[in-house]
Amino acid sequence: MIPGPSDLSEETDMPSIESTAPDAILEAISLTKAYGSGDRERTILADVNFALAEQEFVCVVGHSGTGKTTLLRCLTGLLSPTGGEVRFRGQRVSSPPEGLAIVFQDYSRSLLPWLTVERNIGLPLEGKGISRAGQAERIAHAVAAVGLAGHERKLPHELSGGMQQRVAIARALAYQPSVLVMDEPFASVDAQTRAELEDLTLQLREEYRTSVLLVTHDVDEAVYLSDRVVVIGGAPASVVRVEETELGRRRDQIETKMLPRFAEVRAEILREIRERSNRTTPTELLQVALGDQPIERSAR
Ligand SMILES: Nc1ncnc2c1ncn2[C@@H]1O[C@H](COP(=O)(O)OP(=O)(O)OP(=O)(O)O)[C@@H](O)[C@H]1O
Ligand SMILES: [Mg+2]
Repeated sequence: MIPGPSDLSEETDMPSIESTAPDAILEAISLTKAYGSGDRERTILADVNFALAEQEFVCVVGHSGTGKTTLLRCLTGLLSPTGGEVRFRGQRVSSPPEGLAIVFQDYSRSLLPWLTVERNIGLPLEGKGISRAGQAERIAHAVAAVGLAGHERKLPHELSGGMQQRVAIARALAYQPSVLVMDEPFASVDAQTRAELEDLTLQLREEYRTSVLLVTHDVDEAVYLSDRVVVIGGAPASVVRVEETELGRRRDQIETKMLPRFAEVRAEILREIRERSNRTTPTELLQVALGDQPIERSAR
């Protein structure tokens, strides 16, 4: 989802909680999120802290149901945290801030089926005070950047899944965001297309000089793409590990994955996730799922 004109208000009051990363572009500070209320209240995230720096690529990994999407929704201002806060460029976020674009997993739901590729891409630019020529230029650039030149007049159903997801990415890019947030963006496509879209995202990050925050449950994907991997786990979930990948800026699907450092980081993260899931018993997971208060031991 790209914020519409009415969603772009940002609270300008002074931050009330001390920032741990003053140069962060997007930051979660002691972020807590619970769903429901009273007996049905379930705390999904507790005391989540991390920051995304300018032009950094951070991947968030964690088990299914841990709260990754909940975290992204809080970070993008689509959900209000129950406690703590989110800051975008130092300002507290209370609705999707301008300068931030989101790509979701399910392209079939995020694209409007009755609009052509170019009109889908241009949608978030409408009402932004950008001239028609300026909009057309941004659309053409984004179309070319994702390799969809020649398909501008097609409808989404005339494209493959991978191409539709390219449209969703192009739409986010046409908005020229300083932060691109992606929730399992390649989970609905085949392995080959996934690898192509991963490389496309790395290339676009350079071209558009954007910071990227990407959620995935695929550890290999996280290590391959990012500068830093943030592991969330526990019930309720918090940041349980942060790994700098230290793999350099240039990545290659074959060569990078053969590097000893790649194997090392991957193993560390997998070990952490496995250990966490062993420590969280099926009973604890069920308690969280049913809305009971999780027992003390799991609240890490
Ligand atoms: N709107 C909601 N109301 C109540 N509970 C919710 C809501 N959205 C998510 N949940 C619950 O919060 C927990 C975390 O969900 P979330 O979608 O954030 O997990 P996730 O890590 O993104 O999972 P997945 O990897 O499967 O996408 C789940 O137990 C889910 O059932
Ligand atoms: Mg999710």
